[in-house]
Amino acid sequence: MRYLKNKLIIENIPISNIAKKFGTPSYCYSFNKLKQNINFFKKSFKSFSPLICFAIKSNTNINIIKEIKKFGFGADVVSMGELMMALKAGIIPRKIVFSGVGKTTSEISYAIDKKILLINAESLSEIKEINRIAKSKNKRIKIGVRLNPNTDAKTLSQISTGKKENKFGVNKNTLYEIINYCKNSKNIDLKCLSVHIGSQILDHKPYEKMLKAVSQILNKTNHKFEFIDLGGGMGITYTDKNKKLNYKKYNTAILKFLRKHKVKIIFEPGRSIIGDTGTLVSKIIYIKDSGSKKFIILDAAMNDLMRPALYGAFHKTLPVTKSNKISKKPYEFVGPICESTDKFVTLKKFQALKEKDLIAICDVGAYGMSLSSNYNLRPKPVEILINGSKIKVIRKRQKHEDII
Ligand code: LLP
Repeated sequence: MRYLKNKLIIENIPISNIAKKFGTPSYCYSFNKLKQNINFFKKSFKSFSPLICFAIKSNTNINIIKEIKKFGFGADVVSMGELMMALKAGIIPRKIVFSGVGKTTSEISYAIDKKILLINAESLSEIKEINRIAKSKNKRIKIGVRLNPNTDAKTLSQISTGKKENKFGVNKNTLYEIINYCKNSKNIDLKCLSVHIGSQILDHKPYEKMLKAVSQILNKTNHKFEFIDLGGGMGITYTDKNKKLNYKKYNTAILKFLRKHKVKIIFEPGRSIIGDTGTLVSKIIYIKDSGSKKFIILDAAMNDLMRPALYGAFHKTLPVTKSNKISKKPYEFVGPICESTDKFVTLKKFQALKEKDLIAICDVGAYGMSLSSNYNLRPKPVEILINGSKIKVIRKRQKHEDII
């Protein structure tokens, strides 16, 4: 996305054209940015050819998943719905891993029937349930177990998952208990040790610590794991202040790990693949002067993009048509929903805006549309994929008839 003669464009398409043709709010994705991210990810770790499973939760659009699949990616799913979507997008079962702390009996049964690569279990109770179902089907099932390495990912507390106070994974002692349990089971084949310490990680050091914790465990057990699933979590630069994650250092740490442990690595990236490919385009409905600041009331709201309301997350916000006029008061960009947290960002300095102007909210490809809802009975936005000069609607705008 860039400005061409003061007009914001995605690839070769002016955003104003999209708004005119498809209305607002609308999610627009850049195909070439997606391709670039995928190639960068693959290249960063090419020396050990990992299995890369796209975290479907970050973006559940079937057309996006189909594109990602073409690059050889598998899928990381966390519900039966996501598993069904990954399969429908054509991802082969032996490239699918199933994570999550609360898989139900029917979800486990479905995953077994679909012959996916791994069910990554997160408790001894879950493993017993998988064992019971596998036994009833007279099958031997490949599973993983998720370790909680008690590592601080140095990210937002709400999206941190690898500390002992988080609900995810099992601690060291339970892990050893699970290894013993699996040894005695005919129906369970413990193939994988998985970890995922959090999301939006920009510092490579937590990853190094995580690898150290896994390495120590592997040294202490004589169980042979075929796979180590390192999860996802690689962060993106939402603001210019964010330092980029050093993939080289992460890769070096993994190579060091692999010299000691002969295993195949699995990754589950979401945000780093799709996050910065997406833009939410919105139109200003009204501008309200409240004295000390002006409310810029957009037609996009927290139901369309939940991250600012849920985590206080920052998304760069840009005018679709650039001008040199600067506003005299701070702007607070809000949506029309009846909640005070329905607010995107407050900016002290911004170009002067007027009603009906278009705004672009950046880097919303991950956990944007996938976290959207119909709150206030608002229909969900259209999703559009842009490739050069080509525009494709990849999900139609919901109509009121669809939800009423
Ligand atoms: N694997 C597991 C087991 C996960 O729980 C997650 C994300 C991922 C992979 C993918 O992580 P990524 O590469 O996208 O960081 N809604 C929040 C993020 C929640 C992440 C949950 N788990 C947000 O909008 O920031």
